[in-house]
Amino acid sequence: MVFESSVALEEAFSPPADSVLWRKDFLMGAATAAYQIEGAVAEDGRIPSIWDTFSATPGKTLAGDTGAVACDHYHRWQDDVELLANLNVGAYRLSISWPRVMTQDGQPNAKGIAFYRNLLTALRAKGLKTFVTLYHWDLPQHLEDQGGWVNRDTVYRFAEYADMISKELAGLVDAWATLNEPWCSAMHGYGTGHHAPGKQDVAFATQAMHHLLLGHGLAVRHLRANDPAAQVGIVANVGRGTSTDSGAAGQRAAWLFELQHNNWILDPLLKKSYPTALWELWPGAEPSVQQGDMDIIGAPLDFLGINYYFRTNVVSDGKHGYLEVDLEGVERTQMGWEVYPDGLRHLLVGFHRDYPNLPPIYITENGMATDDEVVDDDVNDRQRISFLNRHLAAVDQAVKAGVDVRGYFIWSLMDNFEWAFGYERRFGIIHVDYATQKRTLKRSAKLVTQFLAERSAKS
Ligand code: FCB
Repeated sequence: MVFESSVALEEAFSPPADSVLWRKDFLMGAATAAYQIEGAVAEDGRIPSIWDTFSATPGKTLAGDTGAVACDHYHRWQDDVELLANLNVGAYRLSISWPRVMTQDGQPNAKGIAFYRNLLTALRAKGLKTFVTLYHWDLPQHLEDQGGWVNRDTVYRFAEYADMISKELAGLVDAWATLNEPWCSAMHGYGTGHHAPGKQDVAFATQAMHHLLLGHGLAVRHLRANDPAAQVGIVANVGRGTSTDSGAAGQRAAWLFELQHNNWILDPLLKKSYPTALWELWPGAEPSVQQGDMDIIGAPLDFLGINYYFRTNVVSDGKHGYLEVDLEGVERTQMGWEVYPDGLRHLLVGFHRDYPNLPPIYITENGMATDDEVVDDDVNDRQRISFLNRHLAAVDQAVKAGVDVRGYFIWSLMDNFEWAFGYERRFGIIHVDYATQKRTLKRSAKLVTQFLAERSAKS
């Protein structure tokens, strides 16, 4: 891969002595999601999800890749838990596949539930904290056939699922997250169509967002009732928007970008309202909201999960909106995303300032894709090491500025099915050879392991 500028490469994972990273109670973990790693899509009663349908549709994913086998984690989970525990991390973030644990008529699927019970029990036995997401984008297809997240009925089906699974797995989960990245589910799923189910109407996206958030709020009630010792939160992806145009139009474009990516989700959760400027950006797309919905959505949270990847440069479109314009000469990842650690610091400090009731934060995803290759059983992912160093330094700066960040999860534990980009994009700190399913620790994994061993040896 050719980069547009010199790429920062590093050989060492070395937080400075005064970094929050050295604090033993600063949780370090790795993250995955069900459809991206499990495979076994038709086993033990799992029913189809929107991602099975979407990825099997020609033209929707790179090279026509699907999650049918993925990392075969459904069969290899014991070895994977072993690998994970050997990294010395304190926590693992995973998601539950709704179509694996619930039948089409809403009954628990015992075999699917047993998979997660065994997995969580094994993780706990290794001393790992378990961060479990209920919905990482794999809606049962039969619900999409009824309109999916655009249909209010899906909200109630999601609440039933949350109720059922939190009863089944109570006591095995340290932290429940209701949703992963509702922005992507709503916008990419129903607005741009880049993700399943591939619908393209901004009014669908805003209605889907409202229903996702309402489903979150109802799920929170069940999680609290069924598993009172666990923490309850949600995971949002956030974006940093800046403009090379320092004039008023450029600055408004950047503001609008962040409003659309961040405040669209955080305002309802933390202020019980949508930012009204959204309806100028998307005329006619205001969702239908029923009385009482915003109070349900705005229920107090124990934590907020933040996923951060890159910065976007925007300019005004000359009307109500903005246009994304790629900056030249900046460091980028295999995804084409700009490496911009200061965006993470900036956003965290801004949220802390703007939301007085901001709950404690976990960085639930951060990481990068590189076109890693195994050479002599070694993967020298020096750009990733540098990326992690710089983003963790940004987190440290935010903590020093007063933001309550309690932990950081690397995306991802292992290379996996990167949605519309299939298997080409490698985000793991563990390399996966998809032909043999062999796992190889990349240097980033080895260095993080070494650092965590040093940290725990410190008095
Ligand atoms: C996030 C997703 C995660 C992964 C990373 C790269 O948007 O939550 O599943 O695909 O991006």
